[in-house]
Amino acid sequence: MVLAELFVAPGQQGRGIGKELLTRTFEHARKAGATNKALITFTFNVVSQGLYIRHGLFPRFPIYFFSIERDAVMQRLQGEKLRWTDIEDSASDLNRLGEIDSSVLGIARERHHRYLLNDGTMRGYFFHAQGDCIGYAYVSATGHVGPLAVAQPTAMGAAFTSALNLAAASAASQVSAFLPGANETALGTAAEHGMRITFAMVLVSTRAFGDWTRYLPRNPGFM
Ligand SMILES: CC(C)(COP(=O)(O)OP(=O)(O)OC[C@H]1O[C@@H](n2cnc3c(N)ncnc32)[C@H](O)[C@@H]1OP(=O)(O)O)[C@@H](O)C(=O)NCCC(=O)NCCS
Repeated sequence: MVLAELFVAPGQQGRGIGKELLTRTFEHARKAGATNKALITFTFNVVSQGLYIRHGLFPRFPIYFFSIERDAVMQRLQGEKLRWTDIEDSASDLNRLGEIDSSVLGIARERHHRYLLNDGTMRGYFFHAQGDCIGYAYVSATGHVGPLAVAQPTAMGAAFTSALNLAAASAASQVSAFLPGANETALGTAAEHGMRITFAMVLVSTRAFGDWTRYLPRNPGFM
């Protein structure tokens, strides 16, 4: 289960409402058979982190929002660019996405992909090398990269660089991505391209999951 958007009105905070909302949401998750619970929150938010720890969701790693002006990144973009094809909302493409997600995250997410593929502001790409599909990435009209996943950790650098190229080729004024602290390759690539950290968040979960050297989430609400 992925939780997003927990808010208590400022005048009502600190009175147990957040705790009660979380307890009810987790009861719903339990009934639905959830085996893990995860979310992404701001690192500066000590109340939410304390509340989540109290409910058994422990911090796993930071996640950094990196961005740069499109023109600035254009000048620096070089390196290997992978061949790409568009992802279609078809049974075979959804099956291929499901296989990659199952190996990277432990779950297939057909509904999530359908949602992204039917969003007119997003475009999905499969990346290919030597005739194999080695991963996928979505790039939004705002120049944001993610989610992005690769079948092997060694493909992360080329896949992320290729996705930055695709984002820089759009009409967006900025290029951005949301990078796990556990993903040295993506962080190194972002730094090499002059990208800057705008803010930091942290992933919390009831148990560790996923191979974050092979995955970049989209944003806190869309892991
Ligand atoms: C985060 C938020 C939902 C919490 O709701 P709330 O109704 O204020 O929280 P509650 O009164 O139910 O619970 C407070 C609990 O937080 C924890 N907490 C608060 N301050 C803490 C601190 N400095 N360190 C550790 N834990 C802390 C405690 O467990 C505390 O419970 P306790 O006082 O019984 O020990 C609320 O503050 C909010 O809406 N903040 C703005 C939006 C936001 O940041 N949302 C989270 C996005 S992921």
